[in-house]
Amino acid sequence: MTVGLDVRSERERVARACRPGQPVPDFVYSSDEDALWSRIFATLRAMHEQLGCADYRCAARLVRLPADRVPQMNEVSRTLRSLTGFELAPVIGSQPGRLFYGPMADNILHATPDVRPVTEQAFSPDPDVIHELVGHAVILADPEFAELYRCFGRAANQATSDEARTAIARLFWFTLEVGLVTERGHPRAYGAAILSSVTEMESFVNADLREFRVEDILASRIDDRICQPVLFVADSVSRMMTEVKGFLRTSVEN
Ligand SMILES: [Fe+2]
Repeated sequence: MTVGLDVRSERERVARACRPGQPVPDFVYSSDEDALWSRIFATLRAMHEQLGCADYRCAARLVRLPADRVPQMNEVSRTLRSLTGFELAPVIGSQPGRLFYGPMADNILHATPDVRPVTEQAFSPDPDVIHELVGHAVILADPEFAELYRCFGRAANQATSDEARTAIARLFWFTLEVGLVTERGHPRAYGAAILSSVTEMESFVNADLREFRVEDILASRIDDRICQPVLFVADSVSRMMTEVKGFLRTSVEN
């Protein structure tokens, strides 16, 4: 796949020119990038039917991402705004700590519009538009998940210690990025990093699957350079949310 540097640098220019509260303009995608999206999205969508959790599959039917082209961030934002109040704000590259989590308190998810090269599609620690839209944006159509994102944002804005910030990052990672839940006796994915990666979807059932316990997650290190060797499986989405929100409220926001 050949993607002109001009396409990528034009997206970067548009993203950097965006200001909070202003409409997000369209981003340009090449025909090769649209074809890549179509191929990966079709594969993931089939996998989601088997391995995605029920809440995710419901949310995907509401968001209805297009199958034949890279979706525009502004159209997905419009849908999310009407469902849960969330919006997507373009950024280039990963955002560190509070810059990433904090805006979630105000219904804003920072997301990159970029498409990573086909050679990095199997696995990459960096987010791309597939990760942002297929992973994060879809689940943000679910009101309960949207509220959990807000809770992380509020906690990040109120955290005053490195210890609290590390706890937030680990909890976010092992839930909203690589979280699993048991449904009908089988692990199913609700985490964005798994739902947006063919490789992660293929391999998560072979990971070291452990019972969801906040204290165990807080003692676990994040390594986003590899497929996840250890994952935490909640009994139910509601129990996971109750425990995560309780921890954020009592241990971080005070
Ligand atoms: Fe992510």
